[in-house]
Amino acid sequence: MTGSTGEFNVWKVRQEFPMLQQLLHGKPFIFFDSAATTQKPRRVIEGMNRFYQEQYGTVHRSVYDFAAQATTRYNDVRQKIKEFLNASFVEEIIFTKGTTDSINLVASSFGKGFLLPGDEVLITAMEHHSNIVPWQLICEEKGAHLKFVPINERGELVLEEFDKLLSDRTKIVSVAHIANSTGTLNPIEEIIRRAHARGAKVLIDGAQSIAHMPIDVQKLKADFYAFSGHKAYGPTGVGVLYGKKALLEKMPPYQGGGDMIDEVTLQSSTFQHPPLKFEAGTPMIAEVIGLGEAIEFIESLGRDRIASWEQDLLEYATKRLSEVKGLHIIGTAPKKGAIISFIIDGLHPLDIGTLLDIRGIAVRTGQLCAQPTLKCFNVSSLTRISFGLYNTIEEIDIFIDALKEVILLLRPSLSY
Ligand SMILES: Cc1ncc(COP(=O)(O)O)c(C=O)c1O
Repeated sequence: MTGSTGEFNVWKVRQEFPMLQQLLHGKPFIFFDSAATTQKPRRVIEGMNRFYQEQYGTVHRSVYDFAAQATTRYNDVRQKIKEFLNASFVEEIIFTKGTTDSINLVASSFGKGFLLPGDEVLITAMEHHSNIVPWQLICEEKGAHLKFVPINERGELVLEEFDKLLSDRTKIVSVAHIANSTGTLNPIEEIIRRAHARGAKVLIDGAQSIAHMPIDVQKLKADFYAFSGHKAYGPTGVGVLYGKKALLEKMPPYQGGGDMIDEVTLQSSTFQHPPLKFEAGTPMIAEVIGLGEAIEFIESLGRDRIASWEQDLLEYATKRLSEVKGLHIIGTAPKKGAIISFIIDGLHPLDIGTLLDIRGIAVRTGQLCAQPTLKCFNVSSLTRISFGLYNTIEEIDIFIDALKEVILLLRPSLSY
């Protein structure tokens, strides 16, 4: 592994990221927090700047040329994302603020449209809070029951329990493609197949998969797939909800306002067809344009090549972490995204994170927005490293040395 496998040259890729040229506390910046958010390539930053400086106009409203061009650009990104996900129709791509917003949209709209008292919603014990709380809220409102598929000691879903929990009352299953805390890659094809066999719809939380592997929603047969732009090398404030057209047609609007209506009187309104039915108000135009640049950037590198590089990083880091005394990896499923969470005997993640920061290394510490998952492992806080396409083997080596140094500082009795 040199960082230049096949046509994927990580050193060349890194030059596209201005943030990766920065120093952190005077040290070369090592960014191991891509599961939280990714750094931005130059073309995303420049594309958004260009739009604001030379092309700015609103969408769907005005006839002047800048507005018409902005509308074309905005619609072109929708088309690009349709192709990126291999959706059947461009109408299946809804712009949202991010994964959280996409899941709230489905919970609220699908919930209002289809959930009856006594119905069931099935999630899992490895979900991010944003794939738990929206379902709690709608279940409470509709008198439905929220159920959870348990996980085993490796952080995998217990599929036999999933089968037992699926019932004729299960209206929707909502599950992470890759868990943000344990890194587990879930067998979503199988989950979707089993849920559909019982008549339930399936939402895939793609926050951790979108930028890290090829996604084909037609092949998966997913009913919904949600992701955030900022976790896919794009800007914050924009995300996507993919939904099957026939289903979106039947769902009521999520929010009311401009753009999503057909006709409005003071008494009542009629609505546009999807996707506009779900896009009330002036959208995040520059962010959508930035997301379009990010998608093209990912496509230019190739998702298979990115996935393969990140798996090399995962494998190498897992092996090197096994050298660290007293370190326990939380989440040891055989199939994982490039995410490694761990605890170290007697040390608090906050201290580890703070001392790594001083050494120029950014990691995530804390509850990782996954309190129920942490509870399954009987821990209250974790340290997490997670990789993006720009990380290198050399960075992992520097991190391991720094981690050993930090441990010795916090526990001088240890020796390596
Ligand atoms: C699996 C998963 N789902 C949902 C989210 C929420 O994403 P956002 O905060 O961008 O809406 C995250 C963010 O970390 C995540 O990792």
